[in-house]
Amino acid sequence: MVSEQDFIPSAYTNTVANGNFEWSAPSNIALVKYWGKKANQIPANPSISFTLNNCKTITKLGFEKKQSSDAFSFDLLFEGQPKESFRPKIEKFFERVAVYLPFLNNYHFTIDTQNTFPHSSGIASSASGMAALAMNLMSLERLLNPEMTDDYFYQKASFLARLGSGSACRSVKGSVVVWGEHAEIEGSSDLFGVPFTAEVHDVFKDYQDTILLVDKGEKQVSSTLGHDLMHNHPYAERRFAQAHENLSALKAALTLGDVEAFIKITESEALTLHAMMMTSQPYFILMKPNTLEIINAIWKFRAETAIPVCFTLDAGANVHILYPENVSVKVLAFIKDNLLGYCQNSQYLCDKIGAGAVLIA
Ligand code: PMV
Repeated sequence: MVSEQDFIPSAYTNTVANGNFEWSAPSNIALVKYWGKKANQIPANPSISFTLNNCKTITKLGFEKKQSSDAFSFDLLFEGQPKESFRPKIEKFFERVAVYLPFLNNYHFTIDTQNTFPHSSGIASSASGMAALAMNLMSLERLLNPEMTDDYFYQKASFLARLGSGSACRSVKGSVVVWGEHAEIEGSSDLFGVPFTAEVHDVFKDYQDTILLVDKGEKQVSSTLGHDLMHNHPYAERRFAQAHENLSALKAALTLGDVEAFIKITESEALTLHAMMMTSQPYFILMKPNTLEIINAIWKFRAETAIPVCFTLDAGANVHILYPENVSVKVLAFIKDNLLGYCQNSQYLCDKIGAGAVLIA
């Protein structure tokens, strides 16, 4: 089994003075949710997600060898403009990964980032952002160690992304990714995400995700705090066991093309995630009245039309509407006619299942 030690490199064979890379990495949407963690970003239960295609972060990493190697040194830009507010997060990330990337304090970095989705859309950019940064750092490490295999490259990128933001480890690869040890997923690990290698039925291969932007404000409770509240949570142990069961059931549904089972598991997982929030101490609610309006409208539409459309939620009020491509004309018409009134400024994003991080330059 792969361990943390495997990601500590031996001495590099090459030297590199300067250069730059550019990677894009997408967001992802969990079907079985990660909620609760142990020390060092180890998940309390396994999770599985669809990698998205359109919602992504594009990050340029410039690097230049410096004289001293005492402290980390980097400039941060967001859409070309200096962005000092990102500094604490990146500083913390560098501290966490330094033992795995011993070259980090030998370079001055320029990290220039942009998102394809509007900021303050309530779409978390931490998964795509940390994944894009991890890909760039691995590209540099590969220059220093050209012997590196592709498997190691992607596995370590996911491992590093996880240390930045847990769910980011599922944004390195597509199109269905598992993170966390699970008895029925070969090679699954708490340390990094692995592509779901069992057969995925055609019906799921072009799945669509239309994201309804219900509330774009700051979350009242961060996911860091939310994860923390799963310690001493009255239902934690049962919930973690349930995630294993749901992942087994979802694996079967994805393979068989059982859309009905997929819907039951996915929607139950979304509501369970929010039920955990509502039963934490202190308790909190991230859904908004319009979140529930949308859920009820989806249930009504599905009952009336038998079109296999369902929802999931992340740690916020926005609703992800999931459906196969072959019903997209009808579902989009339904969304436009019935649901946009529940969105802030009628805003929504069209996304779909995607292939993972891409090297741009
Ligand atoms: O990666 P984090 O710490 O932001 O947590 C993400 C948690 C959920 O989005 C709610 C679930 C998940 O598995 O992505």
